[in-house]
Amino acid sequence: MNMNAGPLESTPYVLQAQDLRLQYGDAAPLIEGLNISVAAGEIVAILGPSGVGKSSLLRILAGLQKASAGKVLVDGEPIDGTHPRVAMAFQDPSLLPWLTLEKNVAFGLDFRHQPHLTTTEKTQRVTAAIREVGLEHARHRMPAELSGGMAQRTALARCVARQPEVILLDEPFGALDEVTRAAMQRLLLKLREDLGTAAVLITHDIDEALQVADRIVLLGGAPAHAIGEWKIAYAQPRDDLVEELGQLRIEILRTLHRALHPHTSKSKNNDVVQKNIESKEIAHVS
Ligand SMILES: Nc1ncnc2c1ncn2[C@@H]1O[C@H](COP(=O)(O)OP(=O)(O)O)[C@@H](O)[C@H]1O
Ligand SMILES: [Mg+2]
Repeated sequence: MNMNAGPLESTPYVLQAQDLRLQYGDAAPLIEGLNISVAAGEIVAILGPSGVGKSSLLRILAGLQKASAGKVLVDGEPIDGTHPRVAMAFQDPSLLPWLTLEKNVAFGLDFRHQPHLTTTEKTQRVTAAIREVGLEHARHRMPAELSGGMAQRTALARCVARQPEVILLDEPFGALDEVTRAAMQRLLLKLREDLGTAAVLITHDIDEALQVADRIVLLGGAPAHAIGEWKIAYAQPRDDLVEELGQLRIEILRTLHRALHPHTSKSKNNDVVQKNIESKEIAHVS
């Protein structure tokens, strides 16, 4: 996959949001001064309480919705609408019930702004994407014959077929049972490993973020902005890092608590918490 070419590359980021602001109608602004940068192949988890504006943010990053101000850049270029190398998966896998798994995956290639592909190219991409998510055996099944996990895998295959540089995921595994959820998290890591695909994972589940993310951005405040950022440099798999991740979990919860209850804390909650988590040390950078 394209992991950024050439020495003249001006930005190492596949996706950037610059100074985003979002206001719905006459309501108070929901998001203000939000900046996010996603490097090639990086998995960034965006955490935040319900209603903070996570889904709105992801739609803006996907080019499905316009920000009131600010810019979204893909490979350093501002976007105006959806981009062929940015794919999105929702919590509801939203498969078309009258199409087979295979046709549902192919459907992602017919979206607006997709490059024109020959039938052979399409078939190759679809076959490769279905293999990547481990569903070859089920390619002719209808959505009603798929388990929740298989349906989510199909939704991911639909993204993969587009050969995206970045996949945007809005609480994609929230409706799945624990075991399936863990399998989906491993699949996301495998996609990154095999294809170099970056991901923005919206989740309200801190443990999910700690398991899969290279970086966690915590949204909070009114209007919402990044109130904390942690780089998680632990190698995968992280299943055995119970203690280390537990420490971090407490820190993130504390930061969130301070943002939600600013008057019960003396700390300046406007300061963005920024930490580099390396090996077993939790080192302060700022
Ligand atoms: N299209 C819209 N028009 C008006 N208000 C909206 C719209 N979409 C979301 N909102 C409001 O914005 C707030 C944040 O919503 P959302 O982005 O879904 O947050 P989250 O995903 O973090 O729960 C909510 O109060 C919601 O009602
Ligand atoms: Mg949401």
